[in-house]
Amino acid sequence: MCGIIGYNGTAQATPFLLDGLKKLEYRGYDSAGIAVSDTDGIKTEKRKGKIDALASAVRKRNDMTGTIGIGHTRWATHGAATNSNAHPHKSGKFTIVHNGIIENHKELKEKYLRLCRFDSDTDTETVAHLINRHYSGNCLEAIAQTARLLEGSFALAILCEDEPNTIFCAKKSSPLLIGVGDEASVASDISAISRKSDSLYRMDDGEIAAIHKNKVEFYDFELNEKAKSASPFTAGNNTSEKGEYEHFMLKEIFEQPEAVRKTVEAYIGADKAELLQQIKKPTGIYIVACGSAYHAGLIGRICIEKLTKTPTSVETASEFRYSDPLIDENTSVIIISQSGETADSLAALRLAKSKGAKTIAIVNVPESSIALESDFAIYTKAGAEIAVATTKAYSAQLAALYALSIHFARIWQTADSKLLNTLEQSLEQLHENIREALCLEKQMKEIAQHMQNTQHTYFIGRGIGFAVAAEASLKLKEISYIHSEAYAAGELKHGTISLIEKGTKVFAVCTPDTPEAKIQSNIDEVAARGANVIAFTSSPNIKANTTVISTTASHPLFSASTQVIPFQLLAYYTAKLRGCDIDKPRNLAKSVTVE
Ligand code: F6R
Repeated sequence: MCGIIGYNGTAQATPFLLDGLKKLEYRGYDSAGIAVSDTDGIKTEKRKGKIDALASAVRKRNDMTGTIGIGHTRWATHGAATNSNAHPHKSGKFTIVHNGIIENHKELKEKYLRLCRFDSDTDTETVAHLINRHYSGNCLEAIAQTARLLEGSFALAILCEDEPNTIFCAKKSSPLLIGVGDEASVASDISAISRKSDSLYRMDDGEIAAIHKNKVEFYDFELNEKAKSASPFTAGNNTSEKGEYEHFMLKEIFEQPEAVRKTVEAYIGADKAELLQQIKKPTGIYIVACGSAYHAGLIGRICIEKLTKTPTSVETASEFRYSDPLIDENTSVIIISQSGETADSLAALRLAKSKGAKTIAIVNVPESSIALESDFAIYTKAGAEIAVATTKAYSAQLAALYALSIHFARIWQTADSKLLNTLEQSLEQLHENIREALCLEKQMKEIAQHMQNTQHTYFIGRGIGFAVAAEASLKLKEISYIHSEAYAAGELKHGTISLIEKGTKVFAVCTPDTPEAKIQSNIDEVAARGANVIAFTSSPNIKANTTVISTTASHPLFSASTQVIPFQLLAYYTAKLRGCDIDKPRNLAKSVTVE
């Protein structure tokens, strides 16, 4: 969701910026732009639509030269996706790009900028005009004065005609990383940082940076200079190619055995629990996350409660943060996030910390805000996930939650150690079970053939099956645009069953944790009303219009990990047949850094 890139070196900036924007593309965007500074001033080009459209406009101009520049991918929040709303925005000598939302932009406009002419509907343009208004020859001062006025979230990269060798940045709540080495670069995430960097700086909230060609200076918003240490930059995690696969999503689906194996390997075993020894048994646990990570949390709750006998609730971060949750120092809060930058999840983490709770992050990006700000971080080892729809990170989150439940149960002595040993052994085989589940690919391709013209579907399940149904339904709708709902199978008859008519497709997720007779009777209820039921089960006893015999995990507690696989494949092949933009579904962003 909105990506910032900047370059300050000795090579031409334009190719670097366009390449960087491509790397940030996966975050989600609907327009893009760059600005490059040269002896004859700052030149800007921006375009609605894909980066290719921007690149071809830049090529046609032939004048976007210069060794310093900034770029942006925009995911529209204030104002439609148009050329004029695309970033960069200009005011006077300043050209800026922005990630985040300026919540008080209307008040600021009213108070300071009544006479200004605005060329866009964006909140960002307010920032450009404010900086310009505060400018009297000192860029840092103008930026600091402006930053102090802004409410909301912002990562800003700024060029000024009077200081043609410097990129200025300011940050509050939206991520910004700076790489320094033979050349300097700045980006919203590490994938776009120059590989020629030796050191990596992560900007903190309330900081301004002045990025020169080979060094960077940091200040707070009062312009006190700050000493800041860098971490070594390793390009290792940076390469993301599709290889033989047509889409990142399919590649990532097939990377799941490895993602799970690595996550389990990193965290399973009594010696690995050391980190958690400090966490005393809490009176209650909250699991907080968004989207698929929330769905992983639903399964986490089942495991944690079963093994630790601790009341656990799962909340979507956007609701949790405003719900005045009952948290104190005896509560533990687990935040799950692939990106580690999801604005609502980050706010939930900060809220939990402010109330004294112990916070544990399950996170895929080690340099992310959530990873760095939590008391304990458990890293999922999924590697870079590029497709917007998560698959391997979700599976790795499940593996981390299983390992965490087992650790807690050991430390708090809430489960029989024989059971815990058995669970650990099963967990070590989980990647193999997932590999077997991937063999359903051909069958899912066939079922997808019948999905092409479907308008509505339902996914039903009980217990773990319901949590899987929620994820399966989200996966299908987000990439194929087929309307889909997940329902607790026993709940349908309280209203939703009235929507079932002849031919309605219902996917029944039958997991071994609930009695077969119960889910069978729910299948029969919808089948009796004409539904075409496709059941996914490892039991030959379940009867439906179609029954897919699916692999199950070697322990029923982990069955979500295998049951979800065919649904990811189904979503993928259905979306493919419908000609959808699988890796970048419309309106979605990989990293949701605004509220
Ligand atoms: C769906 C999906 C999203 C994310 C959600 C949270 O396929 O990927 O629902 O799970 O936006 O993102 P993270 O995990 O980065 O906090």
